[in-house]
Amino acid sequence: MDEHGLVVDALPDDLRLVYTTPSHQYPMGGVLPVPRRQALLAWARRNGALIAEDDYDGEFRYDVAPLPALYGLDPDVVVYLGTTAKILTADMGVGWLGGRPDLVAEVALRKEELNDRTAVVPQDALRLLLERGDLDRYVRRMRGEYARRREVVVRALDGLPLRGDTAGLHLVVDVPEAVAARVVEEAGRCGVVVETLDRHHMGPVRASGLVIGYGSAATLAELRKGCEVVRTLAG
Ligand SMILES: Cc1ncc(COP(=O)(O)O)c(C=O)c1O
Repeated sequence: MDEHGLVVDALPDDLRLVYTTPSHQYPMGGVLPVPRRQALLAWARRNGALIAEDDYDGEFRYDVAPLPALYGLDPDVVVYLGTTAKILTADMGVGWLGGRPDLVAEVALRKEELNDRTAVVPQDALRLLLERGDLDRYVRRMRGEYARRREVVVRALDGLPLRGDTAGLHLVVDVPEAVAARVVEEAGRCGVVVETLDRHHMGPVRASGLVIGYGSAATLAELRKGCEVVRTLAG
């Protein structure tokens, strides 16, 4: 992958399944451009592979409208996944899946065999929120709120090299590994929780930095203060 997300040309031809988060790569923050989406679908068709599209952060794009989902472009080779984790709460434990009827039937069967049941009450609650339009309204409101938070973070970290498209609930500060480790430790002592990038990859290190999440900050002022601590330590 690179700063835009999955590098389709680098995929081996013998894969049967590719799991991807084209709306927002975590943690590097790329939003997969349309030509790459088309190339990925063509690759899947050519190789008889399936794509699992985890539409993680798909609701939270702040500069332009969201790009078309892979599933919308080619529903035959894509299984679409979503959950309430980012739009409501992870504690609800409800997700959804869209795909070809034969695949959906197969997944439902496997889920049943695993006895992996999803509680009925949260499902009903989500259905009501959807039917009444409450979820749409809430997501619209939170899109504005998260855009403001992102702006606060970007301003407070002014001068530091930032990575990631204008989307989602986090961004990355590009700093050397040793600096990142020191900032995480010293910020932690000041009550500011940030993570190093190295928690999120396998294989040889190709990037280093800090992951700054703004999804759960209580207030904009608190967020600004936390980011100022990070800037002072990392600058
Ligand atoms: C890439 C990605 N997909 C999906 C989820 C949501 O998963 P769940 O609904 O199981 O909490 C997360 C949570 O952080 C995530 O990082």
